[in-house]
Amino acid sequence: MTAAADHVLVQLQGKQPRTGLILGSGLNDLADGIEDSLVFDYADLPGFPAATAPSHRGRLVLGELEGRAIACMQGRIHLYEGVDPAALAIPIRTLKALGCEQLIVTNAAGSLDPAKRPGSIMAITDHINLMGANPLAAPPDDNDGPRFFPMNEAYTPDLRAHAHAAAAAIGITLHDGVYLAVTGPNFETPAEIRAFATLGADAVGMSTVPEVIVAAQAGMKVLGLSMVTNMAAGLADDAPTAEEVRETAATAGGDVERLLRAVLLRIG
Ligand code: HPA
Repeated sequence: MTAAADHVLVQLQGKQPRTGLILGSGLNDLADGIEDSLVFDYADLPGFPAATAPSHRGRLVLGELEGRAIACMQGRIHLYEGVDPAALAIPIRTLKALGCEQLIVTNAAGSLDPAKRPGSIMAITDHINLMGANPLAAPPDDNDGPRFFPMNEAYTPDLRAHAHAAAAAIGITLHDGVYLAVTGPNFETPAEIRAFATLGADAVGMSTVPEVIVAAQAGMKVLGLSMVTNMAAGLADDAPTAEEVRETAATAGGDVERLLRAVLLRIG
C-alpha cells in the first residue's frame, strides 16, 4: 500500500477501479470524458512525482468510462524530467493498491517501420529498455512483488487479442510491434535509429517501459498502445520536432480514444 493509495482510498467509498489507464502525449483530454469523477492533483498525492512535461496535466482521475471503473493518470512522469527512476514505481503501485489488476499504457512514438506511418496505432508486443535506468533498482520490499521475475509476457497476449478484436470491430487498423525506450529528452540521431532498427525496434519513445516493468513485478496485466506521431530520425525528409508530435497527436488522438473505449467495453 502506498501513502498515495491510502489518501485516495478513504475518499473512494468502495468504488474500486479495476483498470488503470496512463494517458500519453496528446491524449490527456480523454480523461475529461470520465464520468462521476474524483480528481486528485499529483501534488496532493504523497510520494507522487510532479508532472512537468508539456500537455501532461498531472492529475489522477477516478471514475467511469464506458461504464467501467477506471483510475486514469492524466499525464505521466518521464525519466527526462530528472526524477529518481524509483519514483516512477509509485504511481503504478498506487493503481495496483487501489484495485487495478490491469493497466493500459499509451504513448506517442516515432516509427522505425516504413509501413507504420504517422497516425498509425501499434499494440506493443514487447520492449527494449535502452534507458539505462530501472525503477526497481532499489532496496527490495517483498510487498512490491518478486525481485527477479520474467518479462516474457509483460504485454499480456489476451489483452492484445481483445485490442485487435476491438479495433477490427470499429474499423481501425492496429499494428503490432516492439517499442524501444530511450531517456530523452532529445530526439535520436539517425545513426541511433539505424542501430535500433537492427536491434528489432518498430517504434521509439521516452516512456512506458519503467511503468510496464513495475506493473509486471506487481503481477498486473498490461496493454500497451503507441500512437505513431512521426517517422523516427533519418526516415523522413525532415527531422522530428515537438510540434510535429503535438500536431499528429491532436489528429490521431481521436482514433486512440475510440479504440480505448472499445477495448474497455470488451475487457470490463
Ligand atoms: N523519438 C522519441 N520519442 C518520441 C518520438 C521520437 O521520434 N516521437 C514521439 N515520441
